[in-house]
Amino acid sequence: MYKCSVILAAGKGKRMKTKLPKVLHKVCGKELVNHVIDTLKNCDIKDINVVIGNGAEEVKRATENRNVYYSLQTEQLGTGHALICSKDFFKDKKGILTVFTGDAPLITEESVKKLMEFHVKGNYKATILTSLVEDATGYGRIIRSDSGEVEKIVEHKDCSEEELKVNEINSGMYCFDIEELVANLDKLNNNNCQGEYYLTDVIEILKNENHKVGAIDINADEIKGVNSRIQLAEAEEIMRNRINKKHMENGVTIIDPKTTYIGNEVEIGEDTIIYPGNVIEGKTIIKGDCILYPNSRIKDSIIEVGVTIQSSVILESCIGENTTVGPFAYVRPESQIGKNVRIGDFVEIKKSKIDDNTKVSHLTYIGDAEVGSGCNFGCGTVVVNYDGKHKNKTIIGDNSFIGCNVNLVSPVEVEDNTYIAAGSTITKKVPSGALAVARAKQVNKEGWMEKSGLKK
Ligand code: UD1
Ligand code: CA
Repeated sequence: MYKCSVILAAGKGKRMKTKLPKVLHKVCGKELVNHVIDTLKNCDIKDINVVIGNGAEEVKRATENRNVYYSLQTEQLGTGHALICSKDFFKDKKGILTVFTGDAPLITEESVKKLMEFHVKGNYKATILTSLVEDATGYGRIIRSDSGEVEKIVEHKDCSEEELKVNEINSGMYCFDIEELVANLDKLNNNNCQGEYYLTDVIEILKNENHKVGAIDINADEIKGVNSRIQLAEAEEIMRNRINKKHMENGVTIIDPKTTYIGNEVEIGEDTIIYPGNVIEGKTIIKGDCILYPNSRIKDSIIEVGVTIQSSVILESCIGENTTVGPFAYVRPESQIGKNVRIGDFVEIKKSKIDDNTKVSHLTYIGDAEVGSGCNFGCGTVVVNYDGKHKNKTIIGDNSFIGCNVNLVSPVEVEDNTYIAAGSTITKKVPSGALAVARAKQVNKEGWMEKSGLKK
């Protein structure tokens, strides 16, 4: 059976108090609307159409790599009006249409599939995803007949006193038979206390036509919408718990899941241990047997087996097996660190390749460089990669010993098996096997303290 979806995402999000379109706020590193799109993509749904309006261009840009269609709702006259605006997308199709909202990112694949199966099996013309909650404030209520059949949905603001007591709420997510929806959608009106075209009224219209309407309830967490920053944080917490649980089930130790922030797309191998305060983002892959001591940020990086990281920032880089990073290291984009390397405290690496077994233990900057294996950097080495106009490259061969406080003025090359004396400023190539000394000779002026009157 043909399956398609519409995601309503044209609303303003007044209560968020934001310049950004509401659906582009992020939960666990991903935009609200993209969570919904990605979930639907995993449910064998062929076409997805997003109704955009507020911040239409921005929403388009943020979703464009996901291969969805768009309809424009220029004026936000209600959820029913939003669906009417997308009629061109589905009006000539046969099959089922599911509707979701761009501000409810917690819906799971299982529930989407369950909704569609329930709808098809029960031969319904419309099926509502609902939830039983303690506090139904703000939600539309599911009104059932004495025999338990769904009659209609009444918006909170339109509820009678009796209806307000109902604790089965409308998630704003539905499954429709496309042909019946098309035949009845234009019957919506805006005779209600908000003066809006409510999509929810379609249910009563279908019932009046003697069509079968169903409802299936799911866990309340899944239908939570984000209307405010407080709800954004609540959604983040629920999503964070889900992600962390998944990793723990896969054999990752997370010492304190409450303070561990792992993005949706991160992969982590078995027996890796994660201490509190780590933020792991983007398309990061962390292999097994790593230890992430507290307080690192790792983004879009690959961390190989057995790496130890502590209180560091690693961006768009690769860290090889059994290497240690930090505390307080900064590995900037496009860096490739080999195996058994040591990147120590207050070391910054930028767009550089560092080969196996090299040690950069403290207070060093390496930028735009290629460093061989088995090298040792003394404390305070600086690769002087920028001359004020251009970034220049430095090449350092294998097994070089770079003394403390050395400047390597780029572009410059240091060949294999070399030794650079501490305090040198290197501006010329150092040939293999050489010792390079590039600093002023020491002069001792005997008796100078006495003569200058400084002696105590
Ligand atoms: C809606 C439902 C309510 C349900 C609740 C669940 C209606 C009338 N009410 O209420 O029964 O309990 O969701 O969260 O449908 N949107 C548009 N264009 C518009 C209006 C809204 O695209 O003209 C989009 C919004 O961007 C949002 C979604 O539709 O993503 C829901 O709209 P919202 O105003 O938040 O509806 P609720 O009042 O929450
Ligand atoms: Ca809402």
